[in-house]
Amino acid sequence: MKKRVAVLMGGFSAEREVSLSSAQGVIKALHELGHEVLPVDVTRDMAQLVKNLSHPRPDVVLNILHGRWGEDGCIQGLLEMMELPYSNSGVLGSALSMNKIVARNVCQMNGIVVPEGNVAHLMDVCAGRVMKPPYVIKPIGEGSSVGVYIVMDENSPLPSPQEWPFEDEVLVECYIPGREIQVAVLGGKAFGAIEICPHSGFYDYEAKYTEGKAIHLMPSPMHPAAYAQVLDWAEKAHAALECRGVSRSDFRYDDTGGEPGSLYYLETNPQPGLTPLSLVPEIVAHKGMTYAQLVQWMVEDASCRR
Ligand SMILES: Nc1ncnc2c1ncn2[C@@H]1O[C@H](COP(=O)(O)OP(=O)(O)OP(=O)(O)O)[C@@H](O)[C@H]1O
Ligand SMILES: [Mg+2]
Repeated sequence: MKKRVAVLMGGFSAEREVSLSSAQGVIKALHELGHEVLPVDVTRDMAQLVKNLSHPRPDVVLNILHGRWGEDGCIQGLLEMMELPYSNSGVLGSALSMNKIVARNVCQMNGIVVPEGNVAHLMDVCAGRVMKPPYVIKPIGEGSSVGVYIVMDENSPLPSPQEWPFEDEVLVECYIPGREIQVAVLGGKAFGAIEICPHSGFYDYEAKYTEGKAIHLMPSPMHPAAYAQVLDWAEKAHAALECRGVSRSDFRYDDTGGEPGSLYYLETNPQPGLTPLSLVPEIVAHKGMTYAQLVQWMVEDASCRR
């Protein structure tokens, strides 16, 4: 059935460009599907946003925002108050998932293994008072590898605490060697696990959004027992974090001691990217679901009051 669909895009997080890229694909798919599309570029002007979502009032809101305010429960709260059905996770699921420390704790309580880690002041981390290399520094609530530093040894570059644009407290995790695995979950069911092999360095912003910077293996050729476990953990993470709709959980797979290796949970993304190089579209495509079918699924799955 044809619907009037508002597409929330852009936003004012560090991932604005990623959101605009995701939205471009989503809007094209909505047109192909015959829906009426209302693109809404989200800025800090909340009065304008409410106006844009009121006249005309959409049947459904596709939330294609990434990062702060769009993925962490803030915009979800506004949509709840306006009683507009929206895609993916609600206030609680978004807030739990986007705080990497809370997400780690919740997952750990549910039997999922996470890398050894601490919350600490960046100043202490950089002074070497928290963990010996190799370790990883991450902001608590960002995405797209923005602000992620892999500290392999004493010569690795460190962030400057004076120029750090995020909270002073950061998550520091032991570096997990091995492979990069990500799982798409739709409506509580894991669709498959993809493996990413960056040509150099780690899976950073450039490798995520530049053509030719990483090889994707779908499905991951990891040991079948580990493959089954990573799907199970992604479903458990989605449920434990109260996610709805589509989520993507990220893992490291340490097979340096042979297969099957050890899996470690990194995080869950409640608004996973839908750009041309994003992984959820690629994972579901392997199951025969096209990009447009994924978008239609999100339109039908949209809801509020949760
Ligand atoms: N403990 C770790 N050991 C090894 N590599 C890690 C670790 N933590 C993060 N990384 C690397 O950094 C990348 C980004 O980390 P993470 O997924 O936690 O952050 P993000 O910025 O939220 O990413 P996303 O784009 O998925 O939102 C991972 O995909 C992985 O390549
Ligand atoms: Mg990630």
